[in-house]
Amino acid sequence: MSKESSFTQRVLSGVQPTGGLHIGNYLGAIKNFVPLQKDYESLFCVVDLHAITVWQDPKELITKKREVAAAFIASGIDPKKSLIFNQSDVPEHTQLSWVLNCVARMGWLNRMTQFKDKAGKNKENVSVGLYTYPILMASDILIYKATHVPVGEDQKQHLELARDIVLKFNNDFEKELFPMPEPIIMEKAARIMSLRDGSKKMSKSDISEYSRIMLTDSNDEIEKKIKKAKTDAKPIPDSLKELELMLEAKNLITIYAAFENISFDLIHKRYGGKNFSELKKDLIGTVIDKIEPIREEMIKLTDDQKYLDSILESGSIKARNIAKEVLNEVYDVTGLSN
Ligand code: ADP
Ligand code: TRP
Repeated sequence: MSKESSFTQRVLSGVQPTGGLHIGNYLGAIKNFVPLQKDYESLFCVVDLHAITVWQDPKELITKKREVAAAFIASGIDPKKSLIFNQSDVPEHTQLSWVLNCVARMGWLNRMTQFKDKAGKNKENVSVGLYTYPILMASDILIYKATHVPVGEDQKQHLELARDIVLKFNNDFEKELFPMPEPIIMEKAARIMSLRDGSKKMSKSDISEYSRIMLTDSNDEIEKKIKKAKTDAKPIPDSLKELELMLEAKNLITIYAAFENISFDLIHKRYGGKNFSELKKDLIGTVIDKIEPIREEMIKLTDDQKYLDSILESGSIKARNIAKEVLNEVYDVTGLSN
């Protein structure tokens, strides 16, 4: 019998306040958090401590943190149902993180592919924080005894590490203190590619602004970017096999399907044999329809800083109430409390 059933069913996820948010972040992560609020006690965290593992401009960081919180709410995360807060406002994350640093093994961290990718040839010169980043992420999850974590493909390895930590911690201290966090693999989450190169994922670090649509883009910008999106001169093929080879075309259909919540095949059938201009025209309409209300709400929220900050504050107070109790338990079993 699994012990998980005795723990509150709780979801935690985090989004970094670095750069702006694009439709890849929305369709691949935030949009998929929304339905979880129905079935789980949910916590959504703006992970500013993760952001500073690479240098951030302090003034910009403050703005970006509010922007992520606004994007959560504008996308449908209800602050009355879920907790929305800044990671650094709950110091228990970092307190637990130290304990977990002493549980996790060097060998485990050495296997993390995201560190290898991010550090590249510069391994000796990146921050120590970037290296221990997955331990802080484990701590984000475990400080709330979260049972479920919605993650994209790129974060699966980090969740595995959190699971290894749970196993070792519970074993070392002979207590089932932490639940084993289960991934919620966001199957419906679309992987959105660059509008300039269908083989690269849409990313805020791409040098071309035309490669991505931001949640804050105006309708004109959305239109311009989709019009300029790379495509072929020939019409959209009827056959799926042919379409598979046309990465940019496939990406536009993926974006369309994800925004409309309908299947890729259905959109493909609708546009197979037609010109790209037709698909693009309709896609512009759809993306504007979906992004405009989110953008408008984000603007309203970021303009009303007092309101936004009050949500973050109340979120962090409630989050701390859970976190303090868990940290106390951890201090008790590890011999750190008096
Ligand atoms: P970026 O690549 O722009 O730096 P992050 O690495 O900060 O984005 O990702 C934040 C979240 O958004 C992660 O959960 C990630 O899985 C998701 N995400 C980022 N880019 C995409 C994309 N192009 N398609 C789908 N999901 C994405
Ligand atoms: N590392 C995640 C990312 O870059 C963000 C994150 C931090 C996170 N802590 C988390 C995600 C805890 C899920 C659970 O996308």
